[in-house]
Amino acid sequence: MRILVTGGAGYIGSITTHRLLDAGHEVIVVDSLVRGHREAVDQRAEFVCAEIGDTSVLERSLPGCDAVMHLAGLIEVAESQTNPGAYFDANVAQPARMLEVMRVHGVDSIVFSSTAAVYGEPSKVPITEDAPTHPVNVYGATKLMFERLLDWHASAHGLRSVRLRYFNVAGALPDGTLGEAHEPETHIIPRLLMALRSGQSEFEVFGGDYPTPDGTCVRDYIHVCDLAEAHRLALERLGEGGPGAVFNLGNGRGYSNLEVVRTCAEVTGHEVEVKVGPRREGDPAVLVASSEQAERDLGWKPTSGDLRAIVGDAWRWHTGPGTSHPARHGSGGTPAR
Ligand SMILES: NC(=O)c1ccc[n+]([C@@H]2O[C@H](COP(=O)([O-])OP(=O)(O)OC[C@H]3O[C@@H](n4cnc5c(N)ncnc54)[C@H](O)[C@@H]3O)[C@@H](O)[C@H]2O)c1
Repeated sequence: MRILVTGGAGYIGSITTHRLLDAGHEVIVVDSLVRGHREAVDQRAEFVCAEIGDTSVLERSLPGCDAVMHLAGLIEVAESQTNPGAYFDANVAQPARMLEVMRVHGVDSIVFSSTAAVYGEPSKVPITEDAPTHPVNVYGATKLMFERLLDWHASAHGLRSVRLRYFNVAGALPDGTLGEAHEPETHIIPRLLMALRSGQSEFEVFGGDYPTPDGTCVRDYIHVCDLAEAHRLALERLGEGGPGAVFNLGNGRGYSNLEVVRTCAEVTGHEVEVKVGPRREGDPAVLVASSEQAERDLGWKPTSGDLRAIVGDAWRWHTGPGTSHPARHGSGGTPAR
C-alpha cells in the first residue's frame, strides 16, 4: 500500500514508518518538524516538511495514497492546559482540513493514533473500549474531538478509521537507532534514563499516597515496536476492506513509579535516590488498558511486555553509538505521568 504518514519524524511515527517500509509498504511522511527530527525519518520514505493543515501540500501528496496513518499532533498535557488554542489547531483544525482533502481525492481509510487520555479518570481498570469518554485535559479533549469528526466523516462520506487508544509508550528499536526524543521530555522512562546517564543523584516521583501497593501511581507501558506493529495491522485491516474500529492497546499489566525506577536502576546499573513529591493534579492512581479486543479482532499481542526489555531497548538508544540523531542525548528534568 502507499501510505501517507503524518508525524513520521516523531518518536512513534518514525518507528512506525520504519516498520511499514520493512513490511513492503511505500511511505510518504508529512511532518512540520515542530517537534520531530528530520534525521529520524527513514531514508527509504519520501519526506515533505509541511503542516498537515497545508492543503496545497496535501493536494500534491495525497493523490495515489491508499490510506493515511495519522500520528502528527501536539502531545503534552501540561502545555495543552496553558495553550489550548495551539492544541485545537494542531489536533483538530489542521487534521480536519486533511480529511477534506482525503475526501476530495477518494482516500477513504485512516489509522488514527489517538490516546487513552480520551477516557479521563477511569471508573474501572483495565479500561475497555466501551468505557465512558470524559477527558480531563485539553490534550485528551482535542484527540476525542478528532475521533468524533472521524465518526461524522464515516456517516457522511463512508470514511473508515481505526483509532488506537493507548497510554505510555516507551522503548526503542532494538538496534538502538531510533527512539524517544521529545523536547521537552516529560515521560518518566526517558527522563529517568537521562538522569541515570548524567549521574543525577535524585529523581522526583509525583505522589506517594495513592491507593496502590507502594503508594505511587501505576501505569501501563507499551513497547514502541509493539505499537508500530498494531498500527501496521490496523492499516492492513482497512486495506483488506475491514470496517472501522476502536482498539485499546496496552500490556494489561501496570507498573508503579517505584517499580519503574527500580527496573531502570537494575537494567542500567546506575542508582538514583527517589524523592517523593506532591501529587500532580489530574493524575489517576492506576491507568491500565485492556487489549482484549485488539487481540481478538486485530490479531495483535504485545511481544515485549516485560518492562526490563522495554527499558533495555530504551537504554541502548540513550547510550549506544552509531546515530547522528541530535536529540538523543538530551538532558533530563522532572518526570511525568
Ligand atoms: N508518546 C506517547 O506515550 C503517546 C501516548 C498516547 C498517544 N500518543 C499519540 O501518538 C502520536 C505520536 O506521539 P509521539 O510521542 O511520537 O509524539 P512526537 O511529538 O514525537 O511526534 C509528533 C510529530 O508530529 C509533528 N507535528 C506536530 N504537529 C504537526 C502539524 N500540525 N503538522 C505536521 N506535523 C506536526 C511533530 O513535528 C512530530 O514529529 C500523537 O498523536 C500522540 O497523541 C502518544
